[in-house]
Amino acid sequence: KAGLLYFGAATDTPGFRERAPYPQSYAQYDAILEDPEEFGQTTPTNGQKWLFVEPQPGLFNFTEGDYVANLANRTEKILRCHALVWHSQLAPWVETTQWTPETLTEAIERHIREVAGYYKGRCYAWDVVNEALDEDGTYRKSVFYNVLGEEYLKLAFRVAAEVDPEAKLYYNDYGIERPASVKTAGAKRLVKMLQDAGVRIDGVGMQAHLHADNHPSEEDLIATSKGYAELGVEVAFTELDVRIKLPVDEQKLKWQSDCYEKVVGACVRVKACVGITVWDFYDPFSWVPDVFPGNGASLLWFENFEKHPAYDGMVRKF
Ligand code: XIL
Repeated sequence: KAGLLYFGAATDTPGFRERAPYPQSYAQYDAILEDPEEFGQTTPTNGQKWLFVEPQPGLFNFTEGDYVANLANRTEKILRCHALVWHSQLAPWVETTQWTPETLTEAIERHIREVAGYYKGRCYAWDVVNEALDEDGTYRKSVFYNVLGEEYLKLAFRVAAEVDPEAKLYYNDYGIERPASVKTAGAKRLVKMLQDAGVRIDGVGMQAHLHADNHPSEEDLIATSKGYAELGVEVAFTELDVRIKLPVDEQKLKWQSDCYEKVVGACVRVKACVGITVWDFYDPFSWVPDVFPGNGASLLWFENFEKHPAYDGMVRKF
């Protein structure tokens, strides 16, 4: 499709879905999700996170992650895997243990060996480190950074490269979609830091949790993507959604469509942009209303399964 490797949708496991306050017909949801005409790629929104895969030290559980990985396999979708090292949705023990640099190094290494090893050969890409930067582009003060400094980034990518040599290794973050932002500069520094250390990094994932009423232009998205590509990595829009300040009206849906269209327009114009993933596709399953109260309708299908205008808007841009 216009040179992209994939257009996909992330999804959660049914156990999580049913906690959403919408007693819908999930069959309708699954039919769209599994339709190869709609999505050629998927990502588990939660199932591979540390909290679920290693809830206790050394105790691994792949039930949640497998649901989406198996779905990808069964429906012949490309699988993006998400995320090995992240400060959020971390198992509580990681934050309460009194670490030394040595013991935390061992724990990170074991985590990556087990998880990336388990999924070896099945992930087109791994988000190896997620959200390591603060808004000002400096390192976020996570448990990983506090104990190990930037060494944890090198460690994570080095181990992932060893364990799954075929997977593309990504740094993934939000707020790194605009060319002039300090956080974008921070992401570029991070890529260079790894490269200078002789560590493999293959991609930068721009999460792209965007706002309908204030979104980057296509030119901006192109410039940002090219800026990463110049460092020798590929790029992807990994968690695209475009939130609307509720209530929804026609004007806001138009802005939202513009924004979705710009992402497609930018990705098809940049050779290094391999694909776009929406962070689920059905509004009731979006994370946005829970985390950003007063915002919603950020995806492509409304609660009643009608499509947003952005759906056709995007199709026109391919
Ligand atoms: C979100 C999930 O969609 C939610 O279900 C969960 O409660 C919180 O995390 N950046 C990321 C994703 O990298 O993993 C997050 O996903 C959204 C922000």
